[in-house]
Amino acid sequence: MADSDQFTFGGGARGDEARAPFALPGEVHPSVIVRDALSRVRPNGHVVVFANEKGGVGKSTLAFHCAVALSYAGHKVLAVDLDRRQRSLDSALEHREGTVRSLGVDVPLTRHVVLHKQTGSLLSQEIARAGSDSSVVIIDVAGHDSAIARYAISIADTLVTPVNSSSVDLELLGDFDPVTGRLRGAGQFAKLVCELREEREQRGGGTFDWVVMKNRVRTSERRQQMRVNEALRQLAPQFDFRLARGFRERVAYRELFAFGLTHLDLRHIPGLVKMQAPTGDEIMGLAADLSIPQQPVFEKWDHGCGKGRISEKSSRAFSESLHARMQPVST
Ligand SMILES: Nc1ncnc2c1ncn2[C@@H]1O[C@H](COP(=O)(O)OP(=O)(O)OP(=O)(O)O)[C@@H](O)[C@H]1O
Ligand SMILES: [Mg+2]
Repeated sequence: MADSDQFTFGGGARGDEARAPFALPGEVHPSVIVRDALSRVRPNGHVVVFANEKGGVGKSTLAFHCAVALSYAGHKVLAVDLDRRQRSLDSALEHREGTVRSLGVDVPLTRHVVLHKQTGSLLSQEIARAGSDSSVVIIDVAGHDSAIARYAISIADTLVTPVNSSSVDLELLGDFDPVTGRLRGAGQFAKLVCELREEREQRGGGTFDWVVMKNRVRTSERRQQMRVNEALRQLAPQFDFRLARGFRERVAYRELFAFGLTHLDLRHIPGLVKMQAPTGDEIMGLAADLSIPQQPVFEKWDHGCGKGRISEKSSRAFSESLHARMQPVST
């Protein structure tokens, strides 16, 4: 960025005091976190971390859709939910197992765990235990800063930060002049990510790929979209992240979540609305944009269309509820 000398983050003086904002009382300094993370065995699989200190931006929704899309692409996925209170990702994957049992349908499943005792050591142990043969580990981080959030970011191969498509949701990435729209300084989350990445690089732990993606994009709000696009255009080179294709605001991402299903699954469940191509493209686009380097080692999930049958033993209430929501509405 042309104005990169306007402000700095991390870098410069190397003493811990020089970076005191990252170690407020009660917070663990990035250097301590990174040192701890680098002392442990790295996970075998590619670690994709969904994190943003801003709450409600779609981390769990995207983590879930990403887990399903990568499973369809042939990856063996372990999902780790660090949000032990909400457990959105874990619940969705648990509901998915319930759906498979109740309806007797055939869709790929994903192993999932919640990290109840939140230490870096236990997170690494859990990944080694439950995900030793996983080609991808997806970690969903709660929407606030914490030592475990910092640890998760520091072991990422790919960090995905969803942002809602409004200026106010970018505050944790950058501070913008409201009149000119110019970037004035770094937001707290962007500073933290850069600090963790820099610590890791300087300690010989390599780097990670930071991907920011817009979520809940509403095409009706064109002016707002242009402002957000311009803000992201300024932020990307400053903080060295790249932009992935976004997700639009779609009921599709909410309505099936309770059943642990995505639109990619609809072709395996007869009698429901058909998968809408743009929705499926967005979900597969998210997985593709992560550019996970290693090739999937497992067979691609391609069991054809509509082969699934609702089991005779299926829970009536369950299938009625799913069908009520998902049957095409006659006009
Ligand atoms: N693209 C989308 N279209 C429509 N609704 C969405 C979309 N993405 C997320 N949502 C909805 O937005 C809400 C917040 O999403 P989600 O729980 O995934 O956010 P989060 O970042 O994980 O939140 P938290 O910080 O609380 O963990 C949910 O109700 C979810 O269904
Ligand atoms: Mg969440």
